[in-house]
Amino acid sequence: MTVALAVSVAQSEPVDDALVIDGEIEITTRAKAPEGHPFEEVLSGWLYRTDETRALEADTFDNPGMLYVEAGEDVWNRVEGTAGKSCAACHGDASESMKDVGAHYPKWNEAAGKPFNIELQINACRENNMGAEPYKFDAPDQKALTTFIKHQSLGTPIEIDLGAGDMQAWWERGKERYYTRTGQLNLACATCHEDHNGQYIRADHLSQGNVNGFPTYRLKQADMVSLHNRFRGCIRDTRAEFPAAFSDDLMALEVYTTWRGEGLSVETPAVRQ
Ligand code: HEC
Ligand code: HEC
Repeated sequence: MTVALAVSVAQSEPVDDALVIDGEIEITTRAKAPEGHPFEEVLSGWLYRTDETRALEADTFDNPGMLYVEAGEDVWNRVEGTAGKSCAACHGDASESMKDVGAHYPKWNEAAGKPFNIELQINACRENNMGAEPYKFDAPDQKALTTFIKHQSLGTPIEIDLGAGDMQAWWERGKERYYTRTGQLNLACATCHEDHNGQYIRADHLSQGNVNGFPTYRLKQADMVSLHNRFRGCIRDTRAEFPAAFSDDLMALEVYTTWRGEGLSVETPAVRQ
């Protein structure tokens, strides 16, 4: 069964506005698309949000996501596991050791033979370097620490290395997933974020679905939302079974969608509705 997608025909341009956080950090919200991209310009989801929502992200004191950055810094300094170490014990000051690291993930991990996102790298360090349990998906400490690490790249343009290991094959797999229609509503990611980009679905102005703001503070949920949680939510909206977090399916989608937003600044923690 195919159900028509309930988008209103109203096409509305993303705003023409500049994001400068605290009047200091210039965020690239429009960038020339990488070669082979369906759009000429990649646009941050920030440009599709209301004046109020955009203002929240432009001011560190107003951004509710900043509380998670602070919580993440506490976790960074906390000793856990049988080795008696904190993250800081090995990595020191995150503003130096983690500067711009998050802008280049997912990254090929040779030992695991697959791409790692920040969450998987954190879990690997906990298991191999701290003697601590890996976090369960979306554990509050996982979200806080991921937010804290990504925030150390605030303003840095995203660029990932598709030449490393088998990254290209993961990109292909992610691309295929992106264009495959699923669920009772028979929708692909591309149906909403490419074909209907700029239109309204219920009260939501459809963006290009870029990932540069993740983890993102969502006003609707009054919480930080991880990328794989967002993927699962979007897939659930097509009334399809959704894959497990960090499954190969979603890791491939993360590689592909990260590439689709290359050139945009990391905005973590972005604010969205
Ligand atoms: C005992 C030392 C040690 C501890 C403790 C440790 N790490 Fe690591 N970490 C490493 C080493 C060594 C590497 C590089 C090699 C690798 O990937 O294992 C690394 C790599 C990383 C990277 C990837 C950096 C890059 O440039 O891609 C991140 C992110 C990271 N660690 C985060 C953490 C976090 C967060 C914690 C705390 C939960 C932590 N680490 C705890 C030793 C440690
Ligand atoms: C039924 C339409 C629909 C489909 C299909 C859909 N999404 Fe979304 N998605 C939305 C809406 C609505 C939002 C919130 C408004 C916006 O940013 O577009 C959203 C937001 C997002 C965001 C957050 C953007 C930001 O700036 O915070 C990402 C990332 C995303 N989607 C990825 C995907 C991926 C990957 C798929 C396919 C697995 C997918 N979406 C399928 C409707 C959809």
